[in-house]
Amino acid sequence: MSVHKEVKRVTTHVLQAMKARGEKIAMLTAYDYSMARILDEAGTDILLVGDSASNVMAGHETTLPITLDQMIYHAASVVRAVKRSLVVVDLPFGSYQGNSTVALKSTIRIMKEAGAHAVKLEGGEEIAESVARILSAGVPVMGHLGLTPQSIYKFGTYTVRAKEEAEAEKLLSDAKLLQELGCFAIVLEKIPAQLTRRVSEELIIPTIGIGGGPSADGQVLVTQDMLGITKDFQPRFLRRYLELYDLIRGATEQYIEDVKSQSFPNEKEAY
Ligand code: KIV
Repeated sequence: MSVHKEVKRVTTHVLQAMKARGEKIAMLTAYDYSMARILDEAGTDILLVGDSASNVMAGHETTLPITLDQMIYHAASVVRAVKRSLVVVDLPFGSYQGNSTVALKSTIRIMKEAGAHAVKLEGGEEIAESVARILSAGVPVMGHLGLTPQSIYKFGTYTVRAKEEAEAEKLLSDAKLLQELGCFAIVLEKIPAQLTRRVSEELIIPTIGIGGGPSADGQVLVTQDMLGITKDFQPRFLRRYLELYDLIRGATEQYIEDVKSQSFPNEKEAY
């Protein structure tokens, strides 16, 4: 008898079933092989290769500079590490807006070259044609509404979105449109908790919140924020589970001291 335990992969259908039975979905960002392996093994349902790699991995001020080639590099590294999680990849700024042919071409590159399982796009009605075109090619699409960082220069700030009635109604109607088009889930970023509740109740597809309160069907955080590596980013919605910046800095200082004092390497650490 084989003792090999088969890992059951998370699919878009598994996520729908989780919403239906009220089980919350845990999503985190991943940009590299080593971290993705840990997050996957820990049981994260969805790994998002977010364009936040532009900030977190490359040190840019916004998500706008990251390229499709760079996203594919990050995504391929994550896919190689994963046994169970669903890997969703952000279409970066400039790779889908305003042209559904370009959107489909970018998606096909991500699916073929990185081996991703799904893509995520920011926006509602204005990107409907691109969403429909990608879905028609059989690629699962995750939506992203509320604070959409690729439009930062249009909004000017990273503050809470859809506080006013008109913006909230537009967000709800965009969410319904994305569901009708066939999206399998929608990220709701930095919107009032009440609006998250309303959208989550009115949709049958899962909502994944970040700064959207407890009623979303799942939650997502940037892993480096959750682990306390990005020390200076402290929004109210963020819960830090570690203070890795300080731990890594302390370990590095110790290593430097050991090298300088010649206590590393010792005899046992040499051949
Ligand atoms: O790029 C990203 O990390 C994201 C999450 C914040 C949802 O889009």
